Amino acid sequence: MIRVSILTVSDGVAAGKREDASGAILDEWVEEHGWFLVDHRVVPDGTSEIATALSRWADGGEVDLILTTGGTGFGPRDVTPEATTAVLQRPAPGLAEALRVAGMRSTPFAALSRGVAGIRGSSLIVNLPGSAKAVREGLEVLEQILPHAVGLLTGETEHA
Ligand code: MTE
Repeated sequence: MIRVSILTVSDGVAAGKREDASGAILDEWVEEHGWFLVDHRVVPDGTSEIATALSRWADGGEVDLILTTGGTGFGPRDVTPEATTAVLQRPAPGLAEALRVAGMRSTPFAALSRGVAGIRGSSLIVNLPGSAKAVREGLEVLEQILPHAVGLLTGETEHA
């Protein structure tokens, strides 16, 4: 069973001004797959808040997969990729590229997500954009890849 933590990155959600629509989709998706939701936190768009949450989960050894939603765009407060990069030990750019390529079939604006992906310890971290639509589209891509990726990372699967 894959152990998942979700990080919603949004000033609006953190301040209670907006609903966590994309976070709710992620929670539901974890449940649908029969995976274990370890934690779901909401933080504002701040580098240290994001980096601290990610590194605590990854270093705690209880999380295989961390999905973030929000803060990947061009807005002045969009710093999720920088905060994630700061804690990654091994980048996995192919995952972020796959998300953008698939997203661009739906909208050219998918190119505006600067999201990154990679590994810290034995946790895989993947940034998703903030909109509900982008999260749904991203999950379609990720669900084909993640079980194998996490299996390799945790040593449960040998290279095919
Ligand atoms: N990716 C997909 N698959 N579908 C989308 O609709 N929206 C884009 C992009 N990625 C989108 C997408 C838009 S409009 C923006 S601005 C960026 O994600 C960044 O979003 P964020 O700042 O909420 O993370």
